Amino acid sequence: MVITVSPIPAVNVATVPQRSPLRYPGGKTWLIPHIRVWLHSMKRPRLLVEPFAGGGIVSLTAVMENLADESLMVELDKDVAAFWKAALNYGPELANRISSFTLTRDSVVQLSCQRPTDVVEHGFRTLVLNRTRRGGVLAHGASFTRKGENGAGISSRWYPNTLIRRLRAIAAVAPRITFHETDGMQMLASLLGQPHHDVVLFVDPPYTGGGGKRAGKRLYAHNDIDHARLFSMLAESNANFLMTYDRSLEIESLIESYKFHAVQVMMKSGHHALLPELVITRYPAFSQGISLV
Ligand SMILES: C[S@@+](CC[C@H](N)C(=O)[O-])C[C@H]1O[C@@H](n2cnc3c(N)ncnc32)[C@H](O)[C@@H]1O
Repeated sequence: MVITVSPIPAVNVATVPQRSPLRYPGGKTWLIPHIRVWLHSMKRPRLLVEPFAGGGIVSLTAVMENLADESLMVELDKDVAAFWKAALNYGPELANRISSFTLTRDSVVQLSCQRPTDVVEHGFRTLVLNRTRRGGVLAHGASFTRKGENGAGISSRWYPNTLIRRLRAIAAVAPRITFHETDGMQMLASLLGQPHHDVVLFVDPPYTGGGGKRAGKRLYAHNDIDHARLFSMLAESNANFLMTYDRSLEIESLIESYKFHAVQVMMKSGHHALLPELVITRYPAFSQGISLV
């Protein structure tokens, strides 16, 4: 299949504001320039819906940069969901937990063995595990980071002041963000049944078809999505969406069947390999680049 290279390169993530406290595997900070172009190309939407929210960088950016009035984040993972409920509803309490925590290997192990008693404790546990496990992976069996940044080991990604600053920024826009702990596919099915001209969707499902290091199975506890059904639901609706996938034959064939548009962006993996990602829309959203087979 011929796929055009996007004229917008994947940015160095250091050049985009890091708004999420989570270090998310499969996180889409690199996609933010595409999201800005896409959302600027239309009348400002009333609602941006993110059915597979994860680290939520797109919802946070859309609301904080006033690219959408409000956002609806949906996530099925109960640990990630607890984090968002705590961050959006109990930001100051979560920030207090961060500032009073002394991070050591023992304190992290102890926290990981405890059953959280309330949503703040649960959200805090998710944040600590996310920032101390290798690659931010929360799925069962993930190991702790060993050498870490600058050899600092387990605390190498634990920046309390930065995390508290991000939580304050989230609390400031929290009235414009709704979070639901539910199945994104079910939510989409009910949402797409009704026409909403001022609603847009950012769809970033877990994907297990690409194989290799980025396979969703290793990264997420919930990874079993019916991709063909997702494409057909979007095709049958009139929803304005932007969706991302790893490039694979399965996804190329779905794009062709539904006459969607796709551009390719080369993404540098954590191991510096260049991997093709697809940015898929119903209508062409990015001006012409170079055609690739
Ligand atoms: C590729 S990640 C999203 C990453 C996100 N865009 C970011 O930038 O951080 C996919 C997310 O979908 C979640 N997920 C998997 N199945 C789901 C379902 N049926 N409903 C809602 N969320 C689901 C996973 O837990 C994971 O957080």
